Amino acid sequence: MYTKLELEQFVKQAKQYARYGKVADYIPALGKANPNDLSIAIYTPDGSVIDAGDTTDKVTLQSISKIIALALVLTDHGEKKVFQKVGMEPTGDPFHSIAKLEEVQPAKPLNPMINAGALAVTHMINGASVEERFWRLLQFVRKLAGNPEISYSKEVAKSEFETAFLNRSLCYFLKQHGIINEDVEELMDLYTKQCAIEMTCVDLARIGLVFAMDGRDPLAGEQIMPPDVARICKTFMVTCGMYNASGEFAIKIGIPAKSGVSGGILASVPGRFGIGIFGPALDDKGNSITGMKLLELLSQTYSLSIF
Ligand code: DON
Repeated sequence: MYTKLELEQFVKQAKQYARYGKVADYIPALGKANPNDLSIAIYTPDGSVIDAGDTTDKVTLQSISKIIALALVLTDHGEKKVFQKVGMEPTGDPFHSIAKLEEVQPAKPLNPMINAGALAVTHMINGASVEERFWRLLQFVRKLAGNPEISYSKEVAKSEFETAFLNRSLCYFLKQHGIINEDVEELMDLYTKQCAIEMTCVDLARIGLVFAMDGRDPLAGEQIMPPDVARICKTFMVTCGMYNASGEFAIKIGIPAKSGVSGGILASVPGRFGIGIFGPALDDKGNSITGMKLLELLSQTYSLSIF
């Protein structure tokens, strides 16, 4: 199997693609990232980690948080209630698109990975206040990563909160159609904090491992979510995890994965290991260009495709 030296070589190769990408700047604080950064960690069930690149760099989860919030609300409410508010179908549209919302009757976001669906999911996080709901989510993230130190970037959360006009419009659409019924500013406060939860690629890999092991943390020996919830999350990673690049990603790489505009990717090789990547240079669909190259090299070299 792979060695640290091989991973370092893959990182070097993949970094060459950074020049074709661009860091996200629609959330102003993310614009400060260095497009040439690239790090990866692979976490196996016996607790060993192989990594390469600067693995002390922290990445905000952004859309990767959508899969974690989904796992939490599915565990809390069950499939039936969650899928009353959000669908199961890929859109083939960009993550922030509003276009398909009007086409489904009665109105319902097509899946929980696009922003509209993720906002509906975050709305379902239980708790009496934004603080309590965020605390529950953060505790869940800490447990998944086995790291009680994980927190969020106040700077990134504030930067998104102050500029997220499109997400606010998605919220108002959802409110008009009865999918959410809370104050939009409160939901945006919770959602932007959720997206700003930050961690290293090693933490990301450990979370990927829990999904890979059907919701069980093999190191703590604890079932963190029901196996069915982990299965649903991995299925969404395959069908919608890389947005309108999910089809090509499934063919070329074939590993359940979820990206974020910070340049993070969480991937789960079922039954085998979790992968965490941080590479902020993005392609035009908002996925890490270097991260995807790195996964492609890994998947093709070690035949990791699940298909
Ligand atoms: O809502 C947003 O636009 C961001 N907080 C997250 C979007 C994102 O990460 C899309 N991923 N590639």
